[in-house]
Amino acid sequence: MSEAWDTLRSHRQELDGISLASLIDAADRDQHFTHQLGDLHVDLTRHLATDQTLELLFDLARERRVEALRDAMFSGEPVNTTEGRAALHIALRNQSDRPILAGGVNVMPEVNAVLRKMQAFCESVHNGTWRGSTDQRIETVINIGIGGSDLGPAMATEALRPWWSNGLRVRFVSNVDPSHLSDTIRDLDPQTTLFIIASKTFGTQETLTNAHAARRWIAKALGETAVSRHFVAVSTNADRVAAFGIDTDNMFEFWDWVGGRYSMWSAIGLSIAMAIGFNQFTALLKGAHEMDCHFRDAPMHKNIPILLGLMDCWYRECWDCQSRAVLPYDQHLHRLPAYLQQLEMESNGKRTRIDGSPTTEGTAMIVWGEPGTNGQHSFHQMLHQGTTLVPCDFLVAATPTESVDDDRYDILFANCLAQAQALARGHGLDNIRAELEETGLSESDISTLATQKVMPGNRPSTTFLYRQLDPATLGRLIALFEHRVFVQGAVWGIDSFDQWGVELGKHLATEILPGVVDGSATQGDATTRRLTMHMDALRRG
Ligand code: F6P
Repeated sequence: MSEAWDTLRSHRQELDGISLASLIDAADRDQHFTHQLGDLHVDLTRHLATDQTLELLFDLARERRVEALRDAMFSGEPVNTTEGRAALHIALRNQSDRPILAGGVNVMPEVNAVLRKMQAFCESVHNGTWRGSTDQRIETVINIGIGGSDLGPAMATEALRPWWSNGLRVRFVSNVDPSHLSDTIRDLDPQTTLFIIASKTFGTQETLTNAHAARRWIAKALGETAVSRHFVAVSTNADRVAAFGIDTDNMFEFWDWVGGRYSMWSAIGLSIAMAIGFNQFTALLKGAHEMDCHFRDAPMHKNIPILLGLMDCWYRECWDCQSRAVLPYDQHLHRLPAYLQQLEMESNGKRTRIDGSPTTEGTAMIVWGEPGTNGQHSFHQMLHQGTTLVPCDFLVAATPTESVDDDRYDILFANCLAQAQALARGHGLDNIRAELEETGLSESDISTLATQKVMPGNRPSTTFLYRQLDPATLGRLIALFEHRVFVQGAVWGIDSFDQWGVELGKHLATEILPGVVDGSATQGDATTRRLTMHMDALRRG
């Protein structure tokens, strides 16, 4: 039972037939629907919402105690209730002197000590003090990790490619499919390659299997003693790191109060710091810290993560939206949709509330997308004319990160604006008929074609506009998305920081593996056994 949702549902009925175009054109539309933090401008004017909608969503946030829950997260309370842990990614980028407590203990001295250790290590690789076992400088760093130990750093290093410095190449291996590692190392010299084994638990099957394969590659080329010069680890589990054979002096620690998908700001971001240098990594943290302060301090009607999270819940519950498209008009953000898939769907793809009761509201939307303009020539057809309402996030920088001598960037920017406008305003039958008449088509051809060309419009989107995709801006953006997910979870009453749904598959894979290895097909249900037998027959040729 929720009074706030009941009111919102009736309000939604009142908005039937609403014209997004008329909302957008209202003189004061930007007053409550545009927001700014640093040079990040967030435009919410193209949403199916009025000032009254916002007020009712704020009532919902009050009913669900969103601000109190946010404060609990910032104070280090165990908001990850099912695992009895705090969720303190905000401490990792706390660039102030303010203490942050977990279990009553200030975590900042430990956080800052690890940052100093990361800095010293980055500098030693960059200036050649740290060398491989044959005294060669490191030229390539490969991060082996999966999920949160891969997606954040992989997304951020790609996003910040123009900031790559020091001549290092940074690559990522996540998939246990052997081709991922072999394709990644094919052109490399083991003497100049350094592996970062990134795993919070240091128990993840894919990461450890890949790490062992990488280790064999190094040991075969350079001998077993070379391992210590070519492997470092990032983990919360020193014992397992030592058991793997990595000197714990070369381990960068983080803590159980850092969720995997919220960990790119911790030592899991070592690969980012390697690529862009430690100073720029600090700029990334500073940008995120700015967003944290904004989320913590801004009143609801000006609070960008709260507004975005509430808007997501509004579409999910009252407009039956199943998915949201993320459309960066920014090639460097090509891994953003994949990163957000874990952030949003692993955090909020749940059906049980913290109190154990089943959710009565729909939870996480399916997040998907591709950079523009590529998506325009692929799935935008469905966004414009399909039967499913898909709110979209457009992201675009005012200026490119490299100088261009033609109008390619302006073309990109204009297309971004055009898509959001077309989605919102559509193209009506009367205009289409008039346009077709001007081409001299027959009345019968016009009648056949005109309805096909109708674009209904009224399709909502947010536009994120920033000066340039630099480290601070990326930090602001990603922290914004993290807090947006927190707000959604708070409204839905779920624990956004656990991921019990991934466990069964891991367990079954371990159980099924022996029957795959020896072809006996003894494990799993009837279909699993049939498929394993078929696999075995195919392997035997
Ligand atoms: O598959 C679930 C998961 O636990 C993610 O939440 C996590 O980011 C990923 O696996 C990797 O875990 P780890 O860093 O412990 O290897």
